[in-house]
Amino acid sequence: MKNKILRELIIYWEKSFNYKFPNKERISIPGFNVNNLDKIYELDLEETEKILRIISQVKHNKVDNKSVAKWNKGWGQNYIDISDNKIIEPYIVPYYFGKYPLSRIMGKFIAPKSYKFPIELKNIVKAKWDIPAIERWHSIEHSLVRLMMQNLVYLPFLKTILETDLKEINFYELGAGTNHNLYFLKKFIDYHLPNNKANYIALDWSDSTKEIVKNMGQNFSYKYINYYKPETFPLIKENSFIFSLASLEQINISSETILNFIAESTPKLVINIEPISQTLSINSLLDKQSIAYMESRNYLPDFISSILKIKMNKFNSLYFDISRSGVGSQFIDGYSVAKWSIL
Ligand SMILES: C[S@@+](CC[C@H](N)C(=O)[O-])C[C@H]1O[C@@H](n2cnc3c(N)ncnc32)[C@H](O)[C@@H]1O
Repeated sequence: MKNKILRELIIYWEKSFNYKFPNKERISIPGFNVNNLDKIYELDLEETEKILRIISQVKHNKVDNKSVAKWNKGWGQNYIDISDNKIIEPYIVPYYFGKYPLSRIMGKFIAPKSYKFPIELKNIVKAKWDIPAIERWHSIEHSLVRLMMQNLVYLPFLKTILETDLKEINFYELGAGTNHNLYFLKKFIDYHLPNNKANYIALDWSDSTKEIVKNMGQNFSYKYINYYKPETFPLIKENSFIFSLASLEQINISSETILNFIAESTPKLVINIEPISQTLSINSLLDKQSIAYMESRNYLPDFISSILKIKMNKFNSLYFDISRSGVGSQFIDGYSVAKWSIL
């Protein structure tokens, strides 16, 4: 990795996740190339302050519990593209990838070196929703998500699988969306454990997720879940690994019920990559803006307290570890990594 800020990120992951894995392998993603990340740069303080002033003024709505139609429509576009073209790649990438030019690495703004700022800088908050699939596939945001998922979810799963020598494994994604995370997880597992028997189960309330899964092959399946309705919580099989990326954030009630359901299912390992404002620092200008954003959207106000309550009252042997991913998008340093299991 030639890029300095990216090298810092990889070293951070290597040192903090206590798992020896060659750095060359960390950035080599089965079925995907992250070379575009060599062509990014870190914004300077002056640019950062100007941008923060602009994005801090944008108002955001609170998440609500009636948004299933929005997700059906959004993922429905991916479903139409996949079924019209009879191929998954590059159409599985969500339409919102790459809709803003900036991302964050190690708490700083980064942009592609080729990016030209709009003459009217305030236009930087205008989302582009019509980016062709191939551009979304090659976007910086997509590369960062692929790198993050491999290092912070797939690798810890692999480590646990190797330690426990499991033969049949069940991977569940809560709020799987277009299923791109499960799609790349299968490529990763096939590459590292060629003799595995693994099932990939998408959990979501969106019908479009279900329809996309039907195009993904026999190892993939779909189960309906509605976080607001415990009676819809599916049975989680033995030898399971559960993860979420930016999905539990969408709940506008306490997260305790869904976390309690996960704990009772006693998975081998759970990794939630979600925005959790308490992991950010009010002493950083960028973080302060992210905290305000998360609070205005009402993202997971009680995630940490719910986990700690479940540990104290129900599962004393619950192991819980939390850290910052080092990755974020234009509007938030959105991704904290909560890793937990019942020992
Ligand atoms: C921001 S998207 C993230 C999707 C995917 N994890 C990704 O990384 O692209 C949030 C997902 O959570 C799902 N979701 C939101 N609220 C839900 C609820 N109450 N029950 C089940 N799924 C929900 C949405 O349908 C959507 O697929």
